[in-house]
Amino acid sequence: MLLFQPLIGLLLISLAHGDYCPISFSPLDVVAEYGASFSVNCSVNSITHQFGLSWERFNNTMEDSEEISRIVDKVTDWEMNVTCYMHSNETQCSQDLPITIYKTPDSVSISTVNHNGPMMEGELYELQCDVHNVAPVQDLTVNWYKGQTLLNQTTFTEASKTPVNKTATLLIRPDRADDGAQYRCEAELDLGAEGPPNSTESALNSEVYYKPQHSSSTETIIKDDKVMLDCTVKANPAPTYTWRSDHLEEKISSSELKSSALSPGNYTCTATNALGRDSKVFIVKDSRCPVQIIPWRAVVRYGDNVSADCKTSVLHKGMGWEASEGGVPMTKNQSLITWRVSELTEWDIKPFCYINYKIGDKDQCKEELPVTVYKTPDSVFISVNHSGPMMEGELYELQCDVHNVAPVQNLTVNWYKGQTLLNQTTFTEASETPVNKTATLLIRPDRADDGAQYRCEAELDLGAEGPQPHPTISSNPLGITVYFAPQIQFCSDWSPLTETSLDSYPSNLHSVEGKPRPDISWRHKSSPVSSSMPLTRYDSGLYEIIARNDLSNVSCSMNITVEYPPELNCDKSYEVKEKTLFKLPCIADGLPKPECFLYKNGKMIQHDFYPNWNDSGWYQLTAHNQRGTSNSTFTINILYAPVFYDSQEKFVVGEDSNITLECYSTGNPEPEVWWSFNNRNISTGRRHINIERATSTSAGVYTCSATNKFGRSDKTFIVEIKGLGYVFPYYILILLGVFVLFVVIILLVVLMWRRRKSRGHYEIQSEMQPLSNGGPK
Ligand SMILES: *[C@@H]1O[C@H](CO)[C@@H](O)[C@H](O)[C@H]1NC(C)=O
Ligand SMILES: *[C@@H]1O[C@H](CO)[C@@H](O)[C@H](O)[C@H]1NC(C)=O
Ligand SMILES: *[C@@H]1O[C@H](CO)[C@@H](O)[C@H](O)[C@H]1NC(C)=O
Ligand SMILES: *[C@@H]1O[C@H](CO)[C@@H](O)[C@H](O)[C@H]1NC(C)=O
Ligand SMILES: *[C@@H]1O[C@H](CO)[C@@H](O)[C@H](O)[C@H]1NC(C)=O
Ligand SMILES: *[C@@H]1O[C@H](CO)[C@@H](O)[C@H](O)[C@H]1NC(C)=O
Ligand SMILES: *[C@@H]1O[C@H](CO)[C@@H](O)[C@H](O)[C@H]1NC(C)=O
Ligand SMILES: *[C@@H]1O[C@H](CO)[C@@H](O)[C@H](O)[C@H]1NC(C)=O
Repeated sequence: MLLFQPLIGLLLISLAHGDYCPISFSPLDVVAEYGASFSVNCSVNSITHQFGLSWERFNNTMEDSEEISRIVDKVTDWEMNVTCYMHSNETQCSQDLPITIYKTPDSVSISTVNHNGPMMEGELYELQCDVHNVAPVQDLTVNWYKGQTLLNQTTFTEASKTPVNKTATLLIRPDRADDGAQYRCEAELDLGAEGPPNSTESALNSEVYYKPQHSSSTETIIKDDKVMLDCTVKANPAPTYTWRSDHLEEKISSSELKSSALSPGNYTCTATNALGRDSKVFIVKDSRCPVQIIPWRAVVRYGDNVSADCKTSVLHKGMGWEASEGGVPMTKNQSLITWRVSELTEWDIKPFCYINYKIGDKDQCKEELPVTVYKTPDSVFISVNHSGPMMEGELYELQCDVHNVAPVQNLTVNWYKGQTLLNQTTFTEASETPVNKTATLLIRPDRADDGAQYRCEAELDLGAEGPQPHPTISSNPLGITVYFAPQIQFCSDWSPLTETSLDSYPSNLHSVEGKPRPDISWRHKSSPVSSSMPLTRYDSGLYEIIARNDLSNVSCSMNITVEYPPELNCDKSYEVKEKTLFKLPCIADGLPKPECFLYKNGKMIQHDFYPNWNDSGWYQLTAHNQRGTSNSTFTINILYAPVFYDSQEKFVVGEDSNITLECYSTGNPEPEVWWSFNNRNISTGRRHINIERATSTSAGVYTCSATNKFGRSDKTFIVEIKGLGYVFPYYILILLGVFVLFVVIILLVVLMWRRRKSRGHYEIQSEMQPLSNGGPK
């Protein structure tokens, strides 16, 4: 679409150009007021042949004229269109008359938004200009003026042919210079050169309130008949004036004072209106009196001694001190005289030194010594408007009574909480004689203030000439008790040892704050539980602690895991086949889950292991967690197939000898043992056989067999009898020998085969050991 816009534009231009319509209007465009009349001529610029002109429509009267006229008596249609048509034998076209129908506003009114009466200096106000019934709004401009100064202009972005009401606003922040200024708003329709100049306006006279403010805060005045102390200052509302000075007895409310009627010194004038006040100090000076007073100011404790020198360097006709006490009569020929009082008991002593010396038209001048007489308070006492404990967050008033102190204008009451200065109170009135004063302080104590000590301190700051450090008197401390709602400081999961009670919940006592001391209760599985009940291992779970006092209650939940030492549940003995995995057989209970250690003969071994046939015996199992250790001993009985120990296997003896064949075997369970000779059972259940007085029939192969449920083992013994050579012919001996050799080879093969088969399972002990090595059954 965006792409097409320029194309369409081009097309329109070329069309307009190609179909150029040679119509023109006089005037070129019409600006008409609604309800008024206007006339317009339509003409053809270039000469074409065979043409006609008409207004509005083709079927309207066609005039065969170069110019036609149209008069509209009264414009009543805001959307009015006026079109002129032309057609000749060559072309046919039309042209719209550009027409603007306007209406001046019915009214324009200026006002302040949400405000009546005088404005305050420095505040923000909104002016509003309401323009009623104006068209077209796009040609409207609202001009804002202060006096003749254009402040701003407001225009409107929307467009409308029909009349609308419009409101424009302007923010202003008036100052004192704007008091009495006139604000105007002007609605102007800018209708181009054709339109009539047109504006309607409304004005608003502003009144601005502002406080008095002198251009300078001090002024030095030399006493003179013509000079006035002029305190006049502009302000709205008009200010009132008050004067203060040590030299003024009565109240003066005029804005001016005549300087010649005043004594040297400071005169402070304050101009006040509803918005504020401003003071100006006039320093009234005489032409200088040639004396110097040292010190220039005296500060003395009531009842103490005081002195001051009056010095001059000029020749004079006499000088002296005048005072209600300690005055010095006029003396001549002296350049230094001293005023001295050994025990000053007058509060408002005003000594001055005079000198008879001509200045201007006067024969005498004087210089005053300002004396400040002070007295530290008799007592300072703190109290509170409340008895009993305070509640956190509530407001209380502390009161500090200072008895018999002077001068009060130099008094400051300092408020302390502990060592912290909280606030200071000063007093506006002035008094030279001692007064009783009360200062107050509002406090809103919180829990941290429980037990806090408040005190007030009266301090006299008498200036650089006064005592240093400043004399201070402190009250006794006032301790306060603050009641506050419970607060649970520590609330996290807990793992106590079994048999512990909830009362030992970490810092149960100290983690729950509150005053009065909150009651603590517990809930578990939505029912109350006694905090003194010992917890058992089955009591783990979610618990709620509730702290309650007169002010409120709070609660908090935590997981409690009851821990307990390991417990072993082992049998007295276990049986296991050799070389099969022996796993820890006991149930090891405990929280946290215990670690287990297995010991044999005091040596720690792996608790899952493959036992050898000789590993039977006592074992100790130790289970350990943070909560304790538990031991248990048991026997492990290793079951294994019969095994033979090494022993003599070949016996060569003479005839009639006695032979004992021993069959050393072991096995668990104890194997069943029997002997066979030449494949015939000869003895059962015995481990050894005795061959008494051996004969040739005794020679041969004896076999010892051992069996239990895990297997069977055989061991062969060979018995040879010597001295049989002369009974048998030589060849028989050889045949027998060959035969025996053959049998032995076969037996050896069998034996080798058996040995090979059992290798890796067990080894045969070479020492002679008791047969009971198999251990208990
Ligand atoms: C319109 O035409 C008439 C007659 O030709 C003439 O009198 C009049 O002045 C013209 N008006 C304007 C505004 O040109
Ligand atoms: C229009 O009329 C004029 C004068 O009669 C003539 O010269 C011209 O050719 C005509 N044009 C057309 C398109 O008929
Ligand atoms: C005029 O008013 C507009 C809108 O309130 C403001 O942005 C602009 O700064 C003002 N111009 C002047 C000269 O005060
Ligand atoms: C001191 O007290 C005055 C009067 O009660 C109060 O206006 C002021 O805020 C206080 N100042 C402080 C620091 O609390
Ligand atoms: C100050 O208080 C004391 C004791 O209450 C009283 O005797 C004394 O007259 C009071 N002084 C003044 C100046 O009010
Ligand atoms: C137990 O037998 C194995 C091999 O069978 C041997 O290595 C080990 O030394 C024997 N242990 C004891 C204590 O006799
Ligand atoms: C358990 O056995 C370990 C290691 O032999 C020992 O230190 C501990 O004292 C024993 N504990 C008990 C309760 O028998
Ligand atoms: C020899 O005795 C054993 C045990 O009593 C028996 O199992 C076996 O069968 C007997 N052998 C013969 C050949 O009688």
